[in-house]
Amino acid sequence: NKNIQVIDTDAVVIGSGIAGLYTAYSLCEQFDKITLVTKQHLKESNTNYAQGGIAAAISESDSPELHQQDTVYAGAGLCNEEAVAVLVNEGPDRIQELIDLGAKFDRTETGLALAKEGAHSCRRILRAQGDATGAEIVRALLNVVSKNSKIDKLDYHFAIDVITEGNTCKGVLLQNDVGEQFFYRTSIVVLASGGMGQLFRYTTNPDIATGDGVAMAYRAGALITSLEFYQFHPTVLSYPGAPRFLISEAVRGEGAVLRNIHGERFMLDKHEMAELAPRDVVSRSIVEEMDKTKATYVFLDITHEKPETLQERFPTIYQKCLQYGLDISSDWIPVAPAAHYAMGGVRTNEWGETEVKGLFACGEVACTQVHGANRLASNSLSEALVYGKRIANTAFAYVATNSAIPYQLPYLLHKPVSRLQYINERRLRLQKVMLRYVGLRRNKEGLESALEEFKKYSPMEGYAYSELSEYEFMNMLTCATLLTHSALAREESRGAHYRTDFPQTDSDWHRTISIHKERGVIV
Ligand code: FAD
Ligand code: SIN
Repeated sequence: NKNIQVIDTDAVVIGSGIAGLYTAYSLCEQFDKITLVTKQHLKESNTNYAQGGIAAAISESDSPELHQQDTVYAGAGLCNEEAVAVLVNEGPDRIQELIDLGAKFDRTETGLALAKEGAHSCRRILRAQGDATGAEIVRALLNVVSKNSKIDKLDYHFAIDVITEGNTCKGVLLQNDVGEQFFYRTSIVVLASGGMGQLFRYTTNPDIATGDGVAMAYRAGALITSLEFYQFHPTVLSYPGAPRFLISEAVRGEGAVLRNIHGERFMLDKHEMAELAPRDVVSRSIVEEMDKTKATYVFLDITHEKPETLQERFPTIYQKCLQYGLDISSDWIPVAPAAHYAMGGVRTNEWGETEVKGLFACGEVACTQVHGANRLASNSLSEALVYGKRIANTAFAYVATNSAIPYQLPYLLHKPVSRLQYINERRLRLQKVMLRYVGLRRNKEGLESALEEFKKYSPMEGYAYSELSEYEFMNMLTCATLLTHSALAREESRGAHYRTDFPQTDSDWHRTISIHKERGVIV
């Protein structure tokens, strides 16, 4: 291992979205040297593109109990109520802390501006610059993190694997963009590596969302839970030549309606909350309508609003649509569902701990079981803050009671021949197979054919790959395989998981599915 430099640090945080930035900052209260690792530029993350906002019960007409009720309703019976209670009770304080750290949320004359989104029973979503909430949160947190000398920031460093001895975390193996490898030796590793939207052909997620954290945690022996619940966002721009750009749910919160290609409003017949029904309901209804009308999109109509109002309330969306010739104050917006958010992930307890000692998970990579079978809009940014804080406190207690024993990296890594061409083709094929057979509608035959396809690609483990895109592809393949196995095991329909061969919700399935590398599928 002489080519691998060994560096000691108190804790490694993998990822620079809201979960990584905030947890790294919080860890500094008790640790002296934190290493923050991110595979691209520090700004690049799902967080940076978040639009609608961040949910917390801060208005006088709201309460944590009401927020809990809405979260549990959207979660279709599978939320862990204790985990939700943590979120709704601690959320307001965490958001206040974010404001104290410099995040500027939009205000009205009477206080913070609050928006409404699907399945929320009142206005409780804070936003920044209209529809650029994530970018503002990243700006504020990066500002704090950049000035903090206790945090060593490593951009363009890819975390390949969490290294364990038995069931205990010993550090992280990294590779930078010129191929140098490092072993960061530490007893605390926080996975804050985000989601896996790139598993599907059409997604709102940027390229970084390849499920690396879930795959790493699986290899390290952590439990992976509820992967079959993958959320498709209902309204993503679907227009020739334009990217799959998100049209925030907050647009429906301000009264936009959905129409089929004949101009008929269809959500009124589908759910009592109409366009503001839970996301899984709206996405499936859109697909039904697309099938019925043989179209690849439906329309989102916000033309009742004045151009000035829309430019002020949704500046990013307004400009983006205009760039492609759509003036949303007079044109209906063609939209379709696209892959958006992983409800499942690395299973944690209410302190962010995984089953591997010293390994924590926070943000979209984690499965705290707050979101159940379908996440309530704008709960993911708040979840990252609430659990990030808890991880910082727990990590300190863990180190205080577990004395570190120096650890040597026991094996050599291989330098393979690059197979980039093969990987690029396979990545696209995997995304298409996932969308077709493991997307919004699934059945046994399709799921089994997806698994057959994935088996042809490559073995699921090993270090015989060295281009970063090859590591990413292996992680995507691991996540796709685990997600498909979970979807096959759940023989019912619930929340974001819809089986055409088992269309009903079945009370026998009122339980979670997990997967472990040695214990297999655990129902
Ligand atoms: P991310 O923000 O995705 O950050 C992950 C980080 O990990 C990145 O920096 C990435 O580069 C790094 N990383 C990944 N793998 C590795 C590796 N192997 N090595 C090193 N670094 C790695 N949620 C809301 O609550 N409200 C919203 O309004 C909202 N709007 C959204 C709009 C869009 C377009 C999208 C895509 C999502 C939206 N979501 C929203 C969801 C929310 O943004 C994400 O769930 C949340 O930002 C996840 O934060 P995170 O810190 O867990 O992960
Ligand atoms: C949106 O703005 O519609 C995204 C909100 C979310 O994913 O929570």
